[in-house]
Amino acid sequence: AALLQPTRIEIDNGPSFQPGPQEDTLLRAALRAGLAFPYECSVGGCGACRFELLEGVVQTLWEGAPGLSERDRKRGKRLACQSRVQGDARIRVRLGGEAEQPAVAPQRVTATLSERRAISDDMVELRLALPCSPGFQAGQYALLYPPGAQGARAYSMSNLDDGSGEWHFIVRRTPGGRGSAVMCAELPVGAKVDVDGPYGHAWLRPSSRDVVCVAGGSGLGPMLSIARGVLAEPGARRVHFFLGLRHEGDLGAADQLLALTGERLSATVVLSSPASPSAWAGATGFVHAEVERQLAPDLGHYDHYMAGPPPMIEAMQDLLMARHEVPFGQIRFDRFV
Ligand code: FES
Repeated sequence: AALLQPTRIEIDNGPSFQPGPQEDTLLRAALRAGLAFPYECSVGGCGACRFELLEGVVQTLWEGAPGLSERDRKRGKRLACQSRVQGDARIRVRLGGEAEQPAVAPQRVTATLSERRAISDDMVELRLALPCSPGFQAGQYALLYPPGAQGARAYSMSNLDDGSGEWHFIVRRTPGGRGSAVMCAELPVGAKVDVDGPYGHAWLRPSSRDVVCVAGGSGLGPMLSIARGVLAEPGARRVHFFLGLRHEGDLGAADQLLALTGERLSATVVLSSPASPSAWAGATGFVHAEVERQLAPDLGHYDHYMAGPPPMIEAMQDLLMARHEVPFGQIRFDRFV
């Protein structure tokens, strides 16, 4: 009967949907069906996609995913981004509202690596040519499947979608990271890479407020895309861009930011651990502290976008929400591990 009837997933007290090809995770199947299934990282790290299985069978891809606590596991919770559909099922999850519906339904395609450029000691810009043009919003990300490495890595697009199907990424080489070694060095230009996307909620929303972009390290990629998006708007919105880097060896990445010009952009580069002695005459310390120094007490007047390591995101959340009472709807980021 399974061959005759398509698999059907029913959401308790909600809609039903039919997953596509069998390799789909429950999360991707739901997003492709246009549902506002909750998620952030889509790689098992954040726990946002937790659900309960009421009937049916799903296969768990990563048993030890950090997105589930021991308590979650005891209570029978599962991660939709780590669950493969095995047939009809009934699940319990609270879907988001209309505002959280995916902007563009994700697709998995095989792209070609068309260019790789070093931009700092350990960061490269990759350009991938997709065989079609699924489109994306400024600030979204994709899952890349580095050949020869297990599983997917999430990287944000740094350019704007111009309809050509060319997606740019800024990737940092992480010590010991198999996937980033493949993407940053080993994979030859011209090679094929599977790409699945776009994903993410932290995309540029229309608004009349000026924009603050805060980037740490390779979080520069999505924030460049957001800034490019604002500067391409016909309106008068301004961008205040803060880029946190570690030391002088990272400064090549700042050139990407400084290449964005225009009267509507102000750019600040902050080094957390400059050499000593250093020729660096710019800001030093934590990037969130520099944001506060320049923009408080008016932080509530802006839309805030941010991407970077978890401690930076947490410091920004604390700064904006706890200390300056910026409304949650003016703050956007996706949480990675
Ligand atoms: Fe599934 Fe983050 S753990 S979306």
